[in-house]
Amino acid sequence: MEWTDGTRAVRAGAPAGEAGDPFLPGPVFAGTYHLPGEPVGPYQYGRHANPTWDALETAIGGLEGAADTVTFASGMAAVSAVLIGLTAPGDVVVLPSDGYPATRSVGEHLAERGITVRLAPTVGDDLEHALDGAGLVWLETPSNPGLDVCDIGRIAALAHEHGALVAVDNTLATPLGQLPLALGADISAASGTKALTGHSDVLLGYVACADPDVAARVRAWRRLTGAVPGPMEAWLAHRSLSTLHLRVDRQATNALALGEALLGRDDVSDVRHPALEGDPAYDVAHRQMRRFGCVVSFTLADADTARRFLGALELVADATSFGGVHSMAERRARWAGNDVAQGFVRFSAGCEDTGDLVRDVLRALDAASLG
Ligand SMILES: Cc1ncc(COP(=O)(O)O)c(C=O)c1O
Repeated sequence: MEWTDGTRAVRAGAPAGEAGDPFLPGPVFAGTYHLPGEPVGPYQYGRHANPTWDALETAIGGLEGAADTVTFASGMAAVSAVLIGLTAPGDVVVLPSDGYPATRSVGEHLAERGITVRLAPTVGDDLEHALDGAGLVWLETPSNPGLDVCDIGRIAALAHEHGALVAVDNTLATPLGQLPLALGADISAASGTKALTGHSDVLLGYVACADPDVAARVRAWRRLTGAVPGPMEAWLAHRSLSTLHLRVDRQATNALALGEALLGRDDVSDVRHPALEGDPAYDVAHRQMRRFGCVVSFTLADADTARRFLGALELVADATSFGGVHSMAERRARWAGNDVAQGFVRFSAGCEDTGDLVRDVLRALDAASLG
């Protein structure tokens, strides 16, 4: 039978189970495995393979519709495995100029090693023009923090004409929000630290591949560099997947309600969320996404107003992440590498009750505007 998203999330990677088995077998803590004689079998040494990673990879791969999936110690370990592990001197790599800044920093390392790196914004013609001769195209959609959305299917088709591999950073959307591989990408990579695991207690990354040969190269890179997830993190992540649909649905509802509540205010500008009517990303997002994410962004008058707003919130932590069950927000310009206004706020809606969250935000805005 074909199950729908919530059912697939609850059951992702769960073994059939015999009488007396737990629903999800516990983490296997092994740096070393018994290995008499010649090395045979899947589990030979802790950096090479682990049954807890395997179960999580089956689960994420099922949700992403991947042929094979490789999990990593963090999102950046996953990003690096693709950008460094799958490229060689002389290659051309296209990266978003407006995505997560650390991805561009990996691009700087590539450039130092004889790889041509072209930066292009997530929307607009520059991306299309950058594809000529490219070997790898990395998209981030929706982009963090600007929430622009590009047409994955169209860019993937154009990039494939140039023979490029296409990878999509699926961190913000999660596989329940969009399926990059079904849209034509070769790789869906993500930070599992965010909405995928959703409790702000785990660092994790993954690379889900349409082609098992590409996945084999990514797995070889992980084994070489040792960027492996801890078994406890992998198990916690797997446990979290069974509530993914509940969390991302509530978060998206809260983000949209906040966006709508902010639209009418004259002390807030540039409110962005892909599901917000009139948003520049609305049309393309509705063509390729099923859920629109937890992040809503907006701009306040200046840095001080944003600081007062963040300080006045009761339910919302001032923290630098997104996708957790607890709402969090930050003044994004406090970090270098983000081309945003001083009063720009990246707000990650959590799973609190919608009315409480909207009330808290409107009250904090009133307090911040009074000065
Ligand atoms: C879009 C995106 N990709 C990748 C990463 C890196 O993930 P991690 O912090 O798990 O290394 C982040 C982190 O914020 C991100 O926002």
